Amino acid sequence: MSDDDRVAPFDLVVFGGAGDLAMRKLLPALYERERDRRLPEDGHVLAVARSPMTEEEYRARAKQALETHVPRETLEPALVARFIKRLGYVACDAANPQDLARLKPRLPDRGHVRAFYLATAPNLFGPICQALGAAGMAVPGSRVVLEKPIGHDLASSRAVNDQVGAVFAEDRVFRIDHYLGKETVQNLMALRFANRLFERLWDAGEIDHVQITVAETLGVEGRGDYYDRTGALRDMVQNHLMQLLCLVAMEPPARLDADAVRDEKVKVLKSLKPVAGPEAAQATVRGQYMAGAIDGQAVPAYAQEIGRNAQTLTETFVALRVHVENWRWAGVPFYLRTGKRLAERRSEIVVQFRAVPHLIFPPSAGELVDNRLVIRLQPDEGIHLVLTTKTPTPGRLRLQRAALNLSFAETLHGRMPDAYERLVTDVLRGNQTLFMRRDEVDWAWRFIEPIHDAWDAAGDAPKHYPAGSWGPAASTVLIARDGRAWREELV
Ligand code: BG6
Repeated sequence: MSDDDRVAPFDLVVFGGAGDLAMRKLLPALYERERDRRLPEDGHVLAVARSPMTEEEYRARAKQALETHVPRETLEPALVARFIKRLGYVACDAANPQDLARLKPRLPDRGHVRAFYLATAPNLFGPICQALGAAGMAVPGSRVVLEKPIGHDLASSRAVNDQVGAVFAEDRVFRIDHYLGKETVQNLMALRFANRLFERLWDAGEIDHVQITVAETLGVEGRGDYYDRTGALRDMVQNHLMQLLCLVAMEPPARLDADAVRDEKVKVLKSLKPVAGPEAAQATVRGQYMAGAIDGQAVPAYAQEIGRNAQTLTETFVALRVHVENWRWAGVPFYLRTGKRLAERRSEIVVQFRAVPHLIFPPSAGELVDNRLVIRLQPDEGIHLVLTTKTPTPGRLRLQRAALNLSFAETLHGRMPDAYERLVTDVLRGNQTLFMRRDEVDWAWRFIEPIHDAWDAAGDAPKHYPAGSWGPAASTVLIARDGRAWREELV
């Protein structure tokens, strides 16, 4: 997270350059950096995909994508025209070394930063890297960017990382977890380590438990094939929720450099109490949505949405209780939940503080709330601190809950940049702080894999929940058994 914002002249090669990720996220992100005047004159994006297309056709598609995906307020035709000129296109099958050689003349060695962004199916990560190595294109200093998922378990993720690592050294591999690029997620580090206030209270002595929720209203959005092979545990928990957990639970790093931060995150992953065997039935819930309604609109059940008539056991919802077994967090449960087709789109972290040690108010004063810090990641990004206050009245003493609210949109006025704006420029600047190191991916899989094994061994079906609800009733029971409740309200 260095504040050196300059980007040196670059050649960014995007495999899968005509695909959804490139069109919806990467090109709009690069365009915004163009608008911020952060891209050097000599910065080129070379899209690679299999579809035969001329460069002009590609540019026309890219222009259309920008017009669709860049918000009106930042879309400026002159800047779009300027940005489009940076784009080139090569049609080839990237996993085929002979075909890939066609790229070479487009990448003269001119001392530019060279980055290969693999916005492709994950099974191509290894073959593309090998082909780049064989064609002599992975020149020293060049970097590679991988999107999740990296493998579907520990062994397969190691195999992918080995293939990639045979061509690119670890300090040249940028594994994206786009949650780390979100402004509010980066803000967690600022909240914890740029303020004395909370860090002093950030441990088992003061904190009762932590909740991390990533709730979506969307279904699987035409990605049924991928999703049905993957499920919510691998799609969301192994990466995004584990990363959020790490940022909440990690020790303060000594410096803000990539390895100092990532070392601390790995320590958290290594401290997780394994959830395996019969423990999984107690500590996890998996669900799948049935037909229901989102925002008043009827939506089909998961199996129907992905066009499967037969039963599928893939989970679209997961809730789990996790323990970080170290000095700071002993005995403090972290409750994690994520799901599709839930009641609201909302990602937030709730840090629930313990009750006051001694109560001086009579029961007639009303309910005392235990303090709660809510970090809202999206939407309505902000921070809320829930307190107990006195109701203003000359009569009998009454207590009520109230919140100190910090809304980033209202208070900080800035535009909330998309995660990819930060991440794609960090790749070009060579800053790995917000990218997952190989051992982080490994340790996250080590935690996740036994949960999957336990589910497979139990062989039971996910619990059903109606689309538009907060998940299966079993998720409420999971936390209620510990005498707690999910926090769905802000105050
Ligand atoms: C992706 C998952 O990593 O994150 C998707 O594959 C999910 O299934 C998405 O919808 C959520 O990201 P965001 O930024 O919309 O919260």
